[in-house]
This record gives sequence, C-alpha cells and structure tokens, in this order.
Amino acid sequence: MSSLIAPHGGKLINRLLEEKERSLLEEKAKSLPCLELDAWALSDVEMIAIGGFSPLEGFMTQQDYESVVQNRRLKDGLVWTIPVTLAVLPEQAKGLKGEVALAVQGKRIAVLHLEDIYKPDKDLEAKQVLGTLDGSHPGVKRLQSTGAVYLGGRISMGHRIPATTFLPYRLDPKDTRRIFAERHWKRIVAFQTRNPIHRAHEYLQKCALEICDGLLLHPIVGETKGDDVPAAVRMKSYEVLLERYYPKDRVLLAVNPASMRYAGPREAIFHALIRKNFGCSHFIVGRDHAGVGKFYGTYEAQRIFDEFSQEEIGITPLCFENASFCTVCGGMVSNKICPHATEQHISLSGTKVRELLQAGTPPPPEVSRPEVAAVLIEAMRTSEISR
Ligand code: ADX
Repeated sequence: MSSLIAPHGGKLINRLLEEKERSLLEEKAKSLPCLELDAWALSDVEMIAIGGFSPLEGFMTQQDYESVVQNRRLKDGLVWTIPVTLAVLPEQAKGLKGEVALAVQGKRIAVLHLEDIYKPDKDLEAKQVLGTLDGSHPGVKRLQSTGAVYLGGRISMGHRIPATTFLPYRLDPKDTRRIFAERHWKRIVAFQTRNPIHRAHEYLQKCALEICDGLLLHPIVGETKGDDVPAAVRMKSYEVLLERYYPKDRVLLAVNPASMRYAGPREAIFHALIRKNFGCSHFIVGRDHAGVGKFYGTYEAQRIFDEFSQEEIGITPLCFENASFCTVCGGMVSNKICPHATEQHISLSGTKVRELLQAGTPPPPEVSRPEVAAVLIEAMRTSEISR
C-alpha cells in the first residue's frame, strides 16, 4: 500500500484504453461523427485520460460546469476551480448524440460518450473564473474565440499522439507515483512554472526542499501565450540548471502537458490538485501565481487556499513572499526574513530581463544563473524566442 497522497477524489482516473478495447473502439469510431481537436482540447483529453485531472473522466456536463463556475466545486461538492470543457460551433453540435469520435489531423484518437450539449454563459464564466471580462486577458480572449456550445461526457482515449519532444520527461501520474515510491520519497513538493527558472524560483524550490524529500519540477508544456518563452527553450534551460546546481537524487523533472489558463487564484488551486494527482504532498505558491498583467493581487493565489479546508484540498500549499537577492544579506531573501530596504534588493522586471537578453547581455547572476542566461541568449539569437 502506497504511502503517497491519494489522488483528488480518491481514485486515479485512467481513460486510456487497453489493446483489446482499443481495436473495438477503432472499428466503431470509423462510423461515428467526428470532431477535430485543437492543441488545447487535445491536451485536456490527454490530461483527463492519464488521470492528471482526476476525478474528471471527461469534459464537464452542464451541472458540473455551472457548479464549478459558481461555487468552485463539482456538483458532488468536491473542490474544483477551473472548467474543463469542449467548445464547438453550434452547427458542429447539431444532430450529435451517443458517441462522437475525437480526431487530430483526421486521425481518430478518442471517443466522447456524449451526455450533454449546452450553451454556456461565457461572460459569467470569464467573470467568475478569470475575474474579468477584459479582452486583453489571454483567458478571456480564448473564451471569446471558441465555439458557443459545450459538449459534456466521459472520454475514452485509444491513441496518444506519440510524443516527439521531451521524451524522457513525459511521465504520467502513475509514473511519477512509481518513481516517488521507488525513491522512498514521502514528502514531495511540486513546482509549477511557465518560465525559465531564475534565482527567485530556485530559492523557493530549495527552501521547500529543505523540509521535503524530493522536488517535482513540473513545467507546463501545453499551450501558453505567444510571448511566453517556448517550452523547448525552457526545457534546455532547466537541464543546464539542474546539471550544475541541484542534487540529482532529490529532483525529478517531468513535463505537465496541460495548458495555461492565466486564472490566478483559481488556477493555483487547480495546479495544486493536478500535482496531488501526480503524487505530490506539497505545492509551492509564490507571488502572483498563474497571474498575468495586473489582473490579480500579488498574494490572492495564496489567500484562496484559506477559503477551503486542508482536508478537502489535501495537498499542502507552501506560500512564499516575493523573493530577490539582498546585497546586504548577501543572499536570496523575501521581506519576511530581510530587514533591509528594497533598494538593497536586486530584482529586474520580466521586460527588463528580456531587453538584456535581446541585447546579448546576461542579467546579473543574482537574478539568473549564467548557464540559464546563456541558453536564453542563444535562443534569442536564433529566434527560437520571438523578439
Ligand atoms: S506561473 O504562471 O507558473 O505562476 P512562473 O513560472 O513565473 O509563473 O512562477 C512559478 C512559481 O514561482 C509561482 O508559484 C510564482 O508565484 C512563483 N514566483 C515567481 N517569481 C517569484 C518571485 N520573485 N518571488 C516569489 N515567488 C515567485
């Protein structure tokens, strides 16, 4: 019996079909109506199928969706803060019933067991989930661009699109759980990121690692907004950093195939629940977690954890204040532990770091490790990062 944390809802969902079921489904899927998935929907299908979104077994039906939007809970009361929905155009939904094949570039990879076709109130969803109706918010922009009808129902995934990238790092919840058990890790802290790791990130991770057995470095590699650093470049930057500065036997790097919602506080809970499914007991929440622009307060994503009981979330949040290098202390600090004025703290905005990298100048080593800076400068030079 594993001593790891139980998945959210108690059971790790597996909607990946076994060989035999798969051939039956393949035969059947040939005659079904078919919907083409975009990269975002494909990543949702994959996350559901591997149990990353446990207890979800498919796309939300109207009751679950409305309950999540309004009450941050599934209809059975379990905490869940982000809608997971399949949006289609009204004309695509017309006449659908029973089962629908889901395809990627024409290849039928999964079946949706359709339970519900409904019209969401997207303004309400944007307001409740993202906290804004402002079209400059990437999540609002996405909501406005997708179909006006949602399809709900369980999915069965027959074929995963074979990964061509990040191969050693493609670990499903069952894999990370196995590895944690093999390594005899009990307290495992997860770190979510959509950025290269700078000194502040490293500080948070290492503080957490002081009190945990292992660190799951779990960057998002699904859809992110256009000006975020592409996953391929980030992965290179993580590799050089881990190689030089982290104890190998205490860190596991794995990719999280989910897409970024930029939903701030609600997404912090969602990120934590996903990592609980991957077997982690602790989750780092720093400043403006999953934020974008000025849409959320600096520590809103930490305070939301107080609105639920520890038992219903399960995974323990480790909350950190804004961190930076203090020239007087001579090390990484936050205001919680440092008495010196902010003028003594070396911190650069994301925009400033980008300007430096574009000019081929590494940011100060108190902000970024030189090895990480070198990867980013090279990616700028070869236009892997858009300028
Ligand atoms: S996020 O969208 O994935 O949250 P990012 O990759 O920048 O963005 O952050 C990863 C984690 O580090 C988040 O928990 C975030 O709150 C935290 N974080 C980032 N920078 C700092 C900082 N300077 N001080 C404290 N926490 C930070």
